[in-house]
Amino acid sequence: MIFRLADFHFPDSAARLYPDTPQRPWILEVGFGDGRFWPHYAATFPEAPNYLGVEISGVSLLKAERRLREAGLSNAVLTKLPATPLIREVVPAGSLDAIVVNFPDPWPKAGHAEHRLLRAPFFRLAASRLKPGGAVLLTTDHDEYFEFACREAEASGVMRAELTDPPPAALETKYARKWRELGLGVQHARFVPTHHPHVPHGTVARFPDSEDAPAVPHAILTLPAAFDPGAFHKHTARGGQTREDPVGWTVVLLELYRSLKQDGWVMLAHVVEGELTQEVLIGISARGDGSHLVRLASFGGPIITPGVKAAVGVVTDWLESQGAAVRHRGY
Ligand SMILES: C[S@@+](CC[C@H](N)C(=O)[O-])C[C@H]1O[C@@H](n2cnc3c(N)ncnc32)[C@H](O)[C@@H]1O
Repeated sequence: MIFRLADFHFPDSAARLYPDTPQRPWILEVGFGDGRFWPHYAATFPEAPNYLGVEISGVSLLKAERRLREAGLSNAVLTKLPATPLIREVVPAGSLDAIVVNFPDPWPKAGHAEHRLLRAPFFRLAASRLKPGGAVLLTTDHDEYFEFACREAEASGVMRAELTDPPPAALETKYARKWRELGLGVQHARFVPTHHPHVPHGTVARFPDSEDAPAVPHAILTLPAAFDPGAFHKHTARGGQTREDPVGWTVVLLELYRSLKQDGWVMLAHVVEGELTQEVLIGISARGDGSHLVRLASFGGPIITPGVKAAVGVVTDWLESQGAAVRHRGY
């Protein structure tokens, strides 16, 4: 089953995601590509474990979903998201039996190592979300990345590497087959937590089901009589990177549109928080008393993160710079 970010709870639970099989082991695969690993690996268990697959390619997502459906693997959730925010915000502490990474993108060019997944902060996050006895399973054909990952695991201070043969299923993926045909070898490591650090979830919330819920970021203000939406120009604001919001945010206000009802406007904003990107709409709509409500719209299934709250603040600040009198800030 395919889940959008907004379909998850923050954090979620195996009991909610796999209501028919909550007691089974829970395995997460990062970058599943066309999904060949899971049917082979699941078949090595008496009963298919619960599966959470995370991948950033939409084409791969659809291919893998079809493959798992045809294999009858119904206790599988697939999502198109970068791995780190998904693991940090959705996966509860101490809940996974394994995190599988087969043939991660090696980012071989000098200066690109910061794009690699398997760096010390990832290992700390992984150790916090694994159960005692769980492990990160890495298989790769890239010797330099393999050594890099082993060094990073050690630098994390929470992982011990065991070098073993890969599970046979890891040699059935699209990339494994490609390398086998070229006669190249692969390396495999099991990274086992030596302890489980506390890595907190962020302050992330679902968009509330009730439209009037006060938890939706909003502001109330009075626009000046001479308000000129034509004065809007795309602009960028940055913030966060505090103790409460260590990831930090960038908000780009992109476009301001007149609403179809002609009683207000809609701002399109791009919100980047680490690897997580959301496009959100923020409405500016007239209220009965002559004031305007600035409020995150539910369109597109946003989740409420520090950056999304900040986006409502950036819109409010821009309106204030245009002469609006702000009465209330609820973000
Ligand atoms: C080299 S391919 C390997 C695919 C598959 N595991 C295999 O062995 O055939 C790496 C995959 O990781 C995905 N990927 C890269 N960065 C990712 C991230 N941060 N989170 C999730 N998937 C990611 C890419 O889209 C790509 O499909």
